Amino acid sequence: MDGILILSIESSCDETAAAVTLNGRQVLSSVISSQADIHKKFGGVVPEVASRNHTLSINGAVERALEDAGKSFKDLNAVAVTYGAGLAGALLVGVSYAKAMAYALGIPLIAVNHIKGHIAANYIAHGELEPPFICLVASGGHTAVLEVISHTEHRLLGQTVDDAAGEAFDKVARLLGLGYPGGPLIDKAAKEGRSAIDFPPPLAGGYNFSYSGLKTAVINYVHGLEQKGIEINVPDVCASFQKAAIDALVEKAVKACGDFGYDKLCLAGGVAANSYLRESAASRCEKEGIKLYFPPLWLCTDNAAMIGAEGYYNFISGKNIADFSLNAVPHLKL
Ligand code: KG4
Ligand code: ZN
Repeated sequence: MDGILILSIESSCDETAAAVTLNGRQVLSSVISSQADIHKKFGGVVPEVASRNHTLSINGAVERALEDAGKSFKDLNAVAVTYGAGLAGALLVGVSYAKAMAYALGIPLIAVNHIKGHIAANYIAHGELEPPFICLVASGGHTAVLEVISHTEHRLLGQTVDDAAGEAFDKVARLLGLGYPGGPLIDKAAKEGRSAIDFPPPLAGGYNFSYSGLKTAVINYVHGLEQKGIEINVPDVCASFQKAAIDALVEKAVKACGDFGYDKLCLAGGVAANSYLRESAASRCEKEGIKLYFPPLWLCTDNAAMIGAEGYYNFISGKNIADFSLNAVPHLKL
């Protein structure tokens, strides 16, 4: 088969994932082994537990990815791995595995930035999409507006100055006793509620965001009612929090398109799975004459296919080709 075949590995948080992609955009296989059920009982990801479970799952995930793709180790042109940002011990499992693979097979090792991987999920979903464009990335660890100049050049326009949007969804869900991960549960509960409560918008200067004030406002609201013995209308709290959390993201992303003269906007990251975000961004972009792109749900949340896509563009431009000193970088910047 002609083309570049990449095996990619993702282990930055609580998903052990492996994928085989052809020329970046064609996903031949994608295996995602989620630990969400394990971490659920703790109400969030426990780093040490995550690392141990990655160690248990990674070999099986890689073998299955190759099998599903109908490929063997000798067919691979390169191995791509997430080396940051994420949990140090979790990242190290993927990085060590990928290094060993690249060494044993004598193929290049590509070091991938997790956030750039999220952006690249859009290339898989939309065959015709090419940079430049504006991208809104919102996940459990990041919230940012970026200018994607080329496949490998990104300019950060603004980001959260404290909590990430997904983190706020998870914390509010925990407060309301909904479970983990909180985003999809709030999304679902919000459909039954009205956004009747006025929570403060998570806005900071420029293209920046601040989610800690919104989170505290929801906590204070809920505790205030609890102290008075008043029953909390969970769907209304969810709908109101969600509206505040998402409207700010849409507003700044659309503003960036106008300010920098772009007519293409991409959404990326776990929060891009949010139904209200997808709907409100779609209607806002239609009004503004902006073409909106977002990946299907399985490509929004953590997966290895997106790491293969980003890895491919690095590989063909000779960027981020790592040696065996590659280490995990938990606070890797964009
Ligand atoms: O990208 P991702 O899988 O992992 C990180 O890189 O962090 O994002 C996970 C985050 C979690 O905070 C989760 O609650 C949030 O994405 N999320 C959502 C939805 N689905 C996942 N947030 C809002 N609405 C959703 N439907
Ligand atoms: Zn992620």
